[in-house]
Amino acid sequence: MSHDPARPAPWDDPSADDRDPAARYAELRAELAALLAGEDDALANLANAAAAIFHTLPGLNWAGFYLLRGPELVLGPFQGRPACVRIPLGRGVCGTAAASGESIVVPDVAAFPGHIACDSRSRAELVVPVRAGGRVVGVLDLDSPHPGRFDPTDRAGCEALAALVAPAMAALLGA
Ligand code: SME
Repeated sequence: MSHDPARPAPWDDPSADDRDPAARYAELRAELAALLAGEDDALANLANAAAAIFHTLPGLNWAGFYLLRGPELVLGPFQGRPACVRIPLGRGVCGTAAASGESIVVPDVAAFPGHIACDSRSRAELVVPVRAGGRVVGVLDLDSPHPGRFDPTDRAGCEALAALVAPAMAALLGA
């Protein structure tokens, strides 16, 4: 799979906001797969994945990765304002998703007990575990300033994106 130079990548497409969300995810998935296929540097691939996601999906103020290092999640490549570096497993939305292995959609972060506020603009959050070799190696975290921003299409779409980046995350962790 390679990028069709006749068409803009979804993160560089001014009409991106008009697309059906499922179609947007399908296109992002294909472009991200093409982007990662050409490079085996895991850090570069996670950095580009964070940028592609942040600049393709509308209405985000933060998108990025936390890597599971021992008993805590440690900040990885991301786009947005500086964020908390270490999140103990089981804490916050990220730590809860990593501990349970289940994605979490939070329509209103103020109503999530233990939510960790990194950017005061964040109102909604979606956290998807990243799995490699049958175990959780980290999470993909999206924040939005719009309450209720994330729906089941986002959850399914981001779970597919998480599967794409899993080999890079595992490689970065030496897993
Ligand atoms: N809100 C997250 C912390 C990470 S930031 O949103 C980037 C949490 O509660 O785990």
